Amino acid sequence: MHKHQPVLAAEALAALAIRPDGCYVDGTFGRGGHSELIRQQLGPDGQLMVLDRDPAAIAAACTLFQDDSRCHAIQANFAELNALLTAQGRQRQIDGLLLDLGVSSPQLDEAERGFSFQQDGPLDMRMDNSQGLTAADWLAQTDTAELIRVLREYGEERYATRIARTIMNYQADHPITRTSQLATLASLSVPRMEKNKHPATRTFQAIRIAVNDELTALHQALQHIQTILAPGGRLAVISFHSLEARIVKRTLRHQIQGPQLPKSVPVRGKQAQGNLRFIGKPIKPDSTEIRANPRARSATLRVAEVIR
Ligand SMILES: C[S@@+](CC[C@H](N)C(=O)[O-])C[C@H]1O[C@@H](n2cnc3c(N)ncnc32)[C@H](O)[C@@H]1O
Repeated sequence: MHKHQPVLAAEALAALAIRPDGCYVDGTFGRGGHSELIRQQLGPDGQLMVLDRDPAAIAAACTLFQDDSRCHAIQANFAELNALLTAQGRQRQIDGLLLDLGVSSPQLDEAERGFSFQQDGPLDMRMDNSQGLTAADWLAQTDTAELIRVLREYGEERYATRIARTIMNYQADHPITRTSQLATLASLSVPRMEKNKHPATRTFQAIRIAVNDELTALHQALQHIQTILAPGGRLAVISFHSLEARIVKRTLRHQIQGPQLPKSVPVRGKQAQGNLRFIGKPIKPDSTEIRANPRARSATLRVAEVIR
């Protein structure tokens, strides 16, 4: 079985301040590195619900939890968490939510999933590979302007126009169905290499984000955070690139500041603020963790709490 080494594990656990009888959600199970640590801190009345869009992740969760009635796994997008909790008719809000964003090592390492520019495989990139457009389908139905936008916005790729034109010119004669084709086309279009970065890194990140509509999911989940979490409940989010980080900061800050009322409405100070606060400063992995797990290098943990 492919493993995933959890990033900022001790820090994320400390941030959630687990209560043995609390109810927690890991919205990004992956292979359960963080979930397992949460579970170890639960007492007999504690509960852990885990979500992942990926059927393989949920299959791993079902195996891990088969003898533990405190835990259950659901294949779902974390954007739907509020609706899921409502549909379950839960009497109580949850005490903590962990979101460890992006893709897992098994997704990257299994060539068949099509996320990797280092190994050849079908150009898929879907986290939930049971539905929706593959990256190959998405590329076949997109136009040059949209591809440039995606590469620029989601990949922060300065050579977006060149890469998009190369891809579209090639695609006019040949379908692009393999990761190796996309990696080669992106590499050929990048005139200057970034240090320690494969020239196709940004192209793969951008198309993956588009195929999975990742930023919309993050925004939706965070918008409902004050409904989902009980007073004193904690949110811990681990982001891996500046787009995710920006959405986390902006969406939470907006709620911390509370509703933007017209100046004529007579509210002051605390009355005008929301019911959420950041806990501490953003946390980065130390050099020991980065040496042991290079995938941790771009991680940042942000923590917020619903005020009691
Ligand atoms: C970085 S990995 C999580 C690793 C996990 N914390 C561990 O220690 O094994 C991210 C996981 O979240 C899942 N994922 C990403 N976005 C999601 C979303 N919107 N809803 C549900 N799962 C999502 C991915 O399929 C992947 O399995």
